[in-house]
Amino acid sequence: MEHKRIDENKIIDGTRTAQSIKDEVRELTADLQAKHGITPGLAFMLVGDDPASRSYVASKEKACAYCGFHSTTLRLPDDTPEADILAQIDRWNIDPDIHGILVQLPLPAHVDEDRVIEAISPRKDVDGFHPINVGKLVIGQECFLPCTPAGIQELLVRSAVETAGRHVVVVGRSNIVGKPIANILLQKAAGANAVVTVTHSAAPDIGLYTRQADVLIVATGRVNTITADMVKEGVAVIDVGINRVEDATRERGYRLVGDVDFDGVAPKASRITPVPGGVGPMTIAMLMKNTHASALRTIAQRQAGGGRQTGR
Ligand code: GUN
Repeated sequence: MEHKRIDENKIIDGTRTAQSIKDEVRELTADLQAKHGITPGLAFMLVGDDPASRSYVASKEKACAYCGFHSTTLRLPDDTPEADILAQIDRWNIDPDIHGILVQLPLPAHVDEDRVIEAISPRKDVDGFHPINVGKLVIGQECFLPCTPAGIQELLVRSAVETAGRHVVVVGRSNIVGKPIANILLQKAAGANAVVTVTHSAAPDIGLYTRQADVLIVATGRVNTITADMVKEGVAVIDVGINRVEDATRERGYRLVGDVDFDGVAPKASRITPVPGGVGPMTIAMLMKNTHASALRTIAQRQAGGGRQTGR
């Protein structure tokens, strides 16, 4: 571990938790295959050659192989017409071997991201980005939860960080993290039931809110968003940020840090996630969980007499 001065018991270990989840999914997948002859299938689309996106997709493909899934990746050039992207999504929507569709974001500027997300069947939207799934999340219906916030909830539950009746403060209001995690933890449900405050860049003094947090979730994409003076003693901290900062002592010239000043905040915190090795690995583990759940759901649909797959 990198943070030697910090009590190891405080650290919320996302790498280990994610590994446990992938092991569970791998076992469930073997079971699904043995009992029903179904192999979860996940289709990736990667448009252009952004190095970060390529690396994310490679990690997701690797996790699929580990869990025993079938996966396929369509790599398209940067100038692919939107119509071609939509046509491929339509083919995957009706392909019975594909249970999840993931279009890696961001897409090139000439492609309308909203239109692409809405083209994905909500039943195969394992990213949880389709407006139907977002709406269902808000009103507490069963749906695919977006992977990063779902991973945060799972990490809190598995690390025995109580949320019921406690004050969770979320810093950041993105569609991918801030808004969904606030909605997830607000639900009257196990692993949630929190009193939730969302604060963001328009607040004149973010510390006014963060100092009241029992559980603090930070997703701003900005280094040192939270410093020691902005938290109370005993807070549990979930740092969603992954930022590159220059570091000449590292071979690659940079290191990864979160949005929280870890060394300053950790001594006051009861629990804290490191970066890397906190929320990051949980995102892929939850993608595996969502894809397995999607494959499992097709059995229930088949048994209910819906043998035909229309995609929607
Ligand atoms: N780009 C960055 N994070 C994500 C993600 O969770 N899903 C997709 N599809 N693209 C991303």
